[in-house]
Amino acid sequence: MTLIRINKYLSDCGVSSRRKAEEYILQGRVSINNNIILELSSKVDPLNDVVLLDGEKIFQKRLVYFLLNKPKGVVTTTDDEKGRMTVVDLIKSKDKIFPVGRLDYNTTGVLILTNDGEFSNFLTHPGNRIPREYEAKLDRPLTEEDKEKLCKGIYIEGIKGKFIKVVFPDKKSKKIINVTAVEGRNHFVKNMFGALGYTVQGLNRKSFAGITADMPVGAYRVLSQDEISGVIKTYGK
Ligand code: URA
Repeated sequence: MTLIRINKYLSDCGVSSRRKAEEYILQGRVSINNNIILELSSKVDPLNDVVLLDGEKIFQKRLVYFLLNKPKGVVTTTDDEKGRMTVVDLIKSKDKIFPVGRLDYNTTGVLILTNDGEFSNFLTHPGNRIPREYEAKLDRPLTEEDKEKLCKGIYIEGIKGKFIKVVFPDKKSKKIINVTAVEGRNHFVKNMFGALGYTVQGLNRKSFAGITADMPVGAYRVLSQDEISGVIKTYGK
């Protein structure tokens, strides 16, 4: 029997954030097996206990996780005001999934979609330094001097950003570069190269949190429980 703290349980069920759930508890609005609980440390057995909020039964949300190899020409949102195709449209799921972080319209590659807000927060929290590996195609060869600058750090909108790894996968072309970032600011890769006067002509995310797109562009698959717990074990504190 696995017991879960009541605030985590309420947040896992999609009721609210953990903090908001604590407020509900202190307000005497939550009961376990018909006993109002006021202790924030109370635990619940998800399989056997009946939890009510304001007298309404709370049902466990089924958590789902997908890995999409995002194609070009698709927006990374749940719905688009211009009616363009979204990454969610590409996945057949009855659950209300959303993308973890974002890839630009014309960026391809690894994108996780889930309905697990906590897992998404874990992956996008800057403090967790989750690695994202990209292959960028530039308009001109990258100089050694600029390669060093990318590793040392460059200010983007007043905040220093850097790549923890920069390698040329092809000895002959210095226009193709593999870079690894541990942050997910919007347009981060394009802005890093843009700050040095390069234009990124093509961008593919090869891996995210060590998970690679092991399938054709546009395809998706379910992430296994082992992959999910592996990510938490590897990058959790
Ligand atoms: N950095 C970018 O510039 N674009 C992306 O899509 C992802 C990272």
